[in-house]
Order: sequence, then C-alpha cells, then structure tokens
Amino acid sequence: MAADRRSKADTLALRQRLISSSCRLFFPEDPVKIVRAQGQYMYDEQGAEYIDCINNVAHVGHCHPVVVRAAHEQNQVLNTNSRYLHDNIVDYAQRLSETLPEPLCVFYFLNSGSEANDLALRLARHYTGHQDVVVLDHAYHGHLSSLIDISPYKFRNLDGQKEWVHVAPLPDTYRGPYREDHPNPAVAYANEVKRVVSSAQEKGRKIAAFFAESLPSVGGQIIPPAGYFSQVAEHIHKAGGVFVADEIQVGFGRVGKHFWAFQLQGKDFVPDIVTMGKSIGNGHPVACVATTQPVARAFEATGVEYFNTFGGSPVSCAVGLAVLNVLEKEQLQAHATSVGSFLMELLRQQKIKHPIVGDVRGVGLFIGVDLIKDEATRTPATEEAAYLVSRHGREGAKLPDAEVPALS
Ligand SMILES: Cc1ncc(COP(=O)(O)O)c(C=O)c1O
Repeated sequence: MAADRRSKADTLALRQRLISSSCRLFFPEDPVKIVRAQGQYMYDEQGAEYIDCINNVAHVGHCHPVVVRAAHEQNQVLNTNSRYLHDNIVDYAQRLSETLPEPLCVFYFLNSGSEANDLALRLARHYTGHQDVVVLDHAYHGHLSSLIDISPYKFRNLDGQKEWVHVAPLPDTYRGPYREDHPNPAVAYANEVKRVVSSAQEKGRKIAAFFAESLPSVGGQIIPPAGYFSQVAEHIHKAGGVFVADEIQVGFGRVGKHFWAFQLQGKDFVPDIVTMGKSIGNGHPVACVATTQPVARAFEATGVEYFNTFGGSPVSCAVGLAVLNVLEKEQLQAHATSVGSFLMELLRQQKIKHPIVGDVRGVGLFIGVDLIKDEATRTPATEEAAYLVSRHGREGAKLPDAEVPALS
C-alpha cells in the first residue's frame, strides 16, 4: 500500500515540497504518520496504537464494516448525480426527517459542512430579503469566502469584520460576562444578541440570519444555558431573520440524550435551518441542509435550480443510511452518554487534584477541559494546553510489544 512505500521522513519531505504549508498537520513538530485505523484506534507506520480523541468525523468508528460495505456495494451498482430518480436519496431524506422536528422537512444534500453553511446563508437571504448575519464570537462555520466572513475565529486574522456581519458574545457561563452565579444567564446572553441586532438596525442594516453551533465547539466547548436559543430566536425572528443551527460537529447523537444538540435547548425550540456534515458520512464527504417548507419555497421561487454534482449521490446516501443504521443498532447515543459520563467523572477527579484544571464541562461525548493560569481571573493557560496536547500525542501511543510509559 502507498502508506508503506516511503519512510516517514520521505513522506514529510514530499509533503513540505508539494502541499501548501497552509494545510497544517497535527503535531507539526513531530507529525504522526497514520497508516490505518479501526474503531477508536489509529496506527502509525511502526504499528503504535493511538486512541483517536480528536477526530470528530469517524462517528461510528474508523472503517466500520457496515459503512464500508454499504459504500462498496453501491459503488458496484451505480454512482451518479442526483438528477436521476433513485431510492437512496429519498430513503435517506425520510430517515433524517424522522430524527428532526416536523417543520424541518425539506432536504438538500451536499459534500461538506462549508457547502451546507453557504447554502444556509443563501436560503436565509432569499427567504428574508435581508443580507446581514449575527454570529457568536470565536465561531468557525467553514472555509468558503462567505463563511470566513461569518467566522470571527478566521476573519480577525484576515480582512476583519464586514459591515454585514455582527458579533454577539459567546453564551459562556464560565468565562463570559454572565457566569454560573448569574440568576438568568440565558436571558442575559440573549439580550446581548438583541442589543447587537438593535445596534445593526440603527445603522440601517437588516438581519437575514443568526448562525450558531448548537454547542459552540471552536469557541471553546461552550454549553449555552437552556432557554438561550428560544430567546435568541424570538429576537432574530422579530428582526425578520432566521435561526441557523450548525450541527456539523455536534449532531447525530454525540450529546447522548438527544439526537441533535439543539434539542438540549428544550422541546419548544426548532431552528429554521439545520446544517450537517462531518460525522454524517463517517469520513465519506456528505453534508445536508434541512429546512422548513416556507424557507425552501422562497428559494424555489427564484426559479434558479440548485444543482450539486456529487451531493446526494447513490453512494453518499447509502453511506449516510448505513451510519444511521449503525447508530441505531449499536445504540451509540446511549453509549455516548455512558462513556461521556465516565470520562467526565475521571476528569473531575483531575480537577480536584490539579488547580490548573479550571472547569470540566460537557454533555455526552462533547467534553471540554478548561485549563487556567489562576482561579481568580480564569485566564486561559494557553501554552500549557498546547503542551498537554502535544505530550499526549507522543506519550499516549502504545507501541507494540513495548512497555507503555505511564501518564501521571
Ligand atoms: C462548526 C463547523 N461548521 C462548519 C465546518 C466546515 O466543515 P467542512 O470542513 O466539512 O467544510 C466545520 C469544520 O471544521 C465546523 O467545525
């Protein structure tokens, strides 16, 4: 296999010559060369075994045989674009619709999370006739130009904030302005969105959408207080905009007790648009946008076709269906709850022992450990966090037939 042909040093040298250095490697000081993976384990060229804790794509486990078989079998029969009538796309849309609240009943299939968010932006703009977007601070919604513009995590290092983008504070009850001791942080943070909307409107701007990850991950594994999204949706709808829930990292049962992370916000809350990616295809490039009839109808009314060459192909939909089947058959939602609770408990024990651990927060297998320099200020221990990540990359690997160094 190609993976075995070259030494690690040769692969690295070739990569440095041929691949843009903007495409960064994990552990750049000493990259890991992974040649195969199975379940939760990855293996390097020496056969050392790693637990994969940073891959938010191999949702039902690397190379799951059911998913691999589904892709292979469909590949042997037919793979083409979604302009031909085919059962897989409708079967898949039907299965997804069973996981979502009833109003979210129209589906578009695409190839990446970025494409899904870009389409969500187009849908929102057509439906509302407005241009502007409210986003949460530190958010990342994808690599297309339109999404870099609504990703403070990126645009702060590039061209800066566009006049049509408005940034609201993260609903962070650990480090933000309204913390665990606030009587109603959901309302307080939602009022911040209202304030951002009002100040945009005073400048003559019109809000098309509020974009947020249902649990902000890139912003620091944040768990918005329950009720926050309903309140925000009220302010956004009043301004004529729609609510877009980005479930690209946090959907598909990762949070355990619900299939979708936005459901943590309560039964009454239903976004106008939901975007899906990453885990949806367990590594195969699949993505999806689900929305309501009125939003879809407004887009259709333009008369412009939405065509995506690979989106919704028979193979992609077979893979998506297989992922749903595995989630159900292996009860992986319940598994996320039990493994997540176990891990949280172990991490909480570390918090008691080590003052650098400021906060351990999470739900299901969405878990964050917030390292701090000092309890009074809760200043992030950024260098220490970087050190820990690289140290575990090295020392966490289990070499075949060798003594594993103990992690203290
Ligand atoms: C929250 C979120 N939205 C969107 C994207 C973009 O997805 P993709 O890289 O598949 O285009 C990402 C990717 O990291 C993400 O984390």
